[in-house]
Amino acid sequence: MKVSDTLDETLKKALEIVVPDEEEVKKGKNAERIIRERLDKILKGRDIEYEFVGSYARNTWLKGNLEIDVFLLFPESYSMDELEKIGIEVGKAVVDDYELRYAAHPYVHGFVEGVEVDVVPCYKVKDPSKIKSAVDRTPFHHRWLKDRVKGKENEIRLLKGFLKAGGIYGAEYKVKGFSGYLCELLVVFFGSFLETVERGKKLSRRDVIDIKSGKIRKGEKFFVVDPVDEKRNVAANLSVDNLARFVQRCRQFLKNPSLSYFLPPRLEIEMDEIERELDRRYVLCFTTYKPEIVEDNLYTQLERAGRKIFEHLERLGFKPLREHHFSDGKKCYVLVETEVCELSVVEKRLGPLFEDEKNVEKFLRKCKERGEKPFIENGRFYTYSERKLRKAASAVIEFASKEWKAFGKNLGECVKEEFSICEGREILKLAENREFEVNVAKFLGLIPDTGGVYDN
Ligand code: UTP
Ligand code: MN
Ligand code: MN
Ligand code: MN
Repeated sequence: MKVSDTLDETLKKALEIVVPDEEEVKKGKNAERIIRERLDKILKGRDIEYEFVGSYARNTWLKGNLEIDVFLLFPESYSMDELEKIGIEVGKAVVDDYELRYAAHPYVHGFVEGVEVDVVPCYKVKDPSKIKSAVDRTPFHHRWLKDRVKGKENEIRLLKGFLKAGGIYGAEYKVKGFSGYLCELLVVFFGSFLETVERGKKLSRRDVIDIKSGKIRKGEKFFVVDPVDEKRNVAANLSVDNLARFVQRCRQFLKNPSLSYFLPPRLEIEMDEIERELDRRYVLCFTTYKPEIVEDNLYTQLERAGRKIFEHLERLGFKPLREHHFSDGKKCYVLVETEVCELSVVEKRLGPLFEDEKNVEKFLRKCKERGEKPFIENGRFYTYSERKLRKAASAVIEFASKEWKAFGKNLGECVKEEFSICEGREILKLAENREFEVNVAKFLGLIPDTGGVYDN
């Protein structure tokens, strides 16, 4: 493969951004040593083993993102309750400042010598097809990758950095991007960062990448076959929009390579411009308190809330354009833009066909009750009735007051308690940080959001 000078230069400089320095590596080694000492002592005489997995164990973590993953492997004779209880007990004894986090089951997150550590209990199963929960697969992932990533560690880091700067690194529900494991598999599959990007720019939503066989075929959706479990799609959490952003990012990078692809985006937001747009367009923001639930769960419910509000406005004829939902840790927001802000006071209501005598009678009776004067058009009865909710904001207020259950279990409870609606430039007063403004600017289409970088 011919590498152009600027591309070569760019990649060389990018390595400085993505590869941890000596100090960070030392910090990791030191923490690892202490974790091992603590675990050897705690687990002495027990039938529980431990294993370092994840990006630390494979030397593929991104500079500035040092975090150590230690898995506790329990024999299958332990019950799920025992595994959880002992897992937490051991985790607490290993780390300082622990907090419980939740995946398939609770695990311990904390710090050792200033380094972030996850201590995750799992079952030691013989075969990855016989796992009891998703975390049981992780040790198999590690064993499959361990030797295959040798010599390619920095290639993996380039890919992680390239995706992170583009806002599409991480499989969590909030991001719906590429997991660390997926990045490692892609680099192993394609050979290097550059080969991943060159082939990546041609990916389609129908591609099935079969890591183990080394082949790509067409299927129903984008699917990366897990080499340790062929039923599992490693890209299951990657949204089609983020796949599209990746492909576009690859195209633009190859056309015009620059270091910007590895740096956090410099987003220039003009407050005047946002205000002007909010003044002349119809945007509303629905706000409620954030329930105390884990992020993945929160974003699942927020996505549902956004969809419900959108669909409701669509049903009523407000012509919603887009919806966007997010949380700042304290509150939750759903932004919606509509093409229509206020509907006419009259609503044209459909009645029966003239042949349907029985229903015509019923229809006429109802019209009379309401004092309406019906009419006929193309052989069908109609009436004009008075609309109660003319404005998009009132429609959302009524919907949220009555249908709070539609907003998801925990979020619904918050909506039932309290919510508010804000319109136009007033929305900016809700901002507690710059991220809020970035969200609004992206939502309005004032910042491009198609995967590339825009300052070169
Ligand atoms: P990480 O999220 O730490 O990813 O999960 P990573 O591969 O180390 O990448 P970075 O560099 O930190 O971003 C480590 C492993 O633990 C599993 C994941 O599948 C991954 O293989 N894991 C982690 C879980 O199964 N559940 C969790 O809640 C967290
Ligand atoms: Mn990790
Ligand atoms: Mn991580
Ligand atoms: Mn982790």
